[in-house]
Amino acid sequence: MRVMELRDDWGLEHLRLAERPQPEPGPGQVLIAMKAASLNFRDTVMVQRGYGRRSGELPLVPVSDGAGEVVAVGDGVTRVKAGDVVCPAFWQLWITGPLKEDYWPGMLGGPHDGVLQEFMVLDASGVVKAPKGYDFRQAATLPCAAITAWSAVVTQGQVKSGDVVVIQGTGGVSLFALQFAKMHGARVIATSSSAAKLARLEALGADHVINYAEDENWGRTARALAGGGGVDLVVEVGGARSLEQSLRAVRVDGMIGMIGVLSGGLAELNLGLVVTRNIRLQGITIGNRDMLEEMIRAINQNGLDPVIDERVYAFDAAAEALGALPEGRHFGKICIEY
Ligand SMILES: NC(=O)c1ccc[n+]([C@@H]2O[C@H](COP(=O)([O-])OP(=O)(O)OC[C@H]3O[C@@H](n4cnc5c(N)ncnc54)[C@H](OP(=O)(O)O)[C@@H]3O)[C@@H](O)[C@H]2O)c1
Repeated sequence: MRVMELRDDWGLEHLRLAERPQPEPGPGQVLIAMKAASLNFRDTVMVQRGYGRRSGELPLVPVSDGAGEVVAVGDGVTRVKAGDVVCPAFWQLWITGPLKEDYWPGMLGGPHDGVLQEFMVLDASGVVKAPKGYDFRQAATLPCAAITAWSAVVTQGQVKSGDVVVIQGTGGVSLFALQFAKMHGARVIATSSSAAKLARLEALGADHVINYAEDENWGRTARALAGGGGVDLVVEVGGARSLEQSLRAVRVDGMIGMIGVLSGGLAELNLGLVVTRNIRLQGITIGNRDMLEEMIRAINQNGLDPVIDERVYAFDAAAEALGALPEGRHFGKICIEY
């Protein structure tokens, strides 16, 4: 079978098409014919060994998120059957309950081999059925970006009707956060550095938009738009350069879901605000398999159309697709079809 792998060295320039033997499912395992992948910012960091030791060892098949069709199951598998459209969970070992250190080796796309391979064998416990009616591309968008947004908005943020939520930029996580916040009846303030993308955010249901490149005090603007002392939740992907604004936007007793550090991971902050305003700074690191299934139940009930960038890449153009992500010209998820 064909795989895209890093074998000789780390770095996008070393990502190569290669052949590996097709795996067979053992007891409790599932053989999946992979059909599509979607990219996350993490994948571009991972191919550079940007997470150090936690990136794992070479050879490595990168990219965490994908979807495919079950072609065979081993003895004792009841969760899925041949013909089902499924997604591998991002965390193969974090099935339920709180996150534990022991689960790190099970992260797909590093250190565990990822989805850029034509067939994958995984334990059935780490595989979920895609939402009804989803094609492979749509299903491939869910395991990392969507569950991260779900965790911030629903599991941790507990957003309810009438709440006000800030999302930052138009990356995969932020667009899912917008959609989940709207699904739960919230008012959404969305930011982007691009006027054209702001218009698309409005078309997706954002109630207010702010250009964060033009309005450096966007936190104050968001607070004023929210009324009532500020926003209930900020879905933070900006990091160093945006966290101070997020602290200004959020209400007393509100929450900032710390997801990404796109503008840097070291910030000088007025931490007094966190204390005196009783703000919850909540780290989010994706979510477990049970949360993925809970999210899919909600999608089956309410509907949700993942936002996918118009440019879709071929399997052997994975390096090009990974190179396009940091350029930031996309809107929604960058997908690869096999
Ligand atoms: N903690 C977790 O579990 C988890 C899971 C997934 C992702 N993440 C992290 O979340 C972040 C977003 O990931 P993604 O996959 O959604 O990325 P992505 O699709 O590459 O998103 C990039 C977009 O973010 C916006 N952006 C860039 N710099 C920004 C800044 N300084 N402030 C606000 N927005 C900014 C830009 O939007 P505009 O072009 O509209 O300005 C850009 O197009 C990354 O840091 C990633 O590592 C964390």
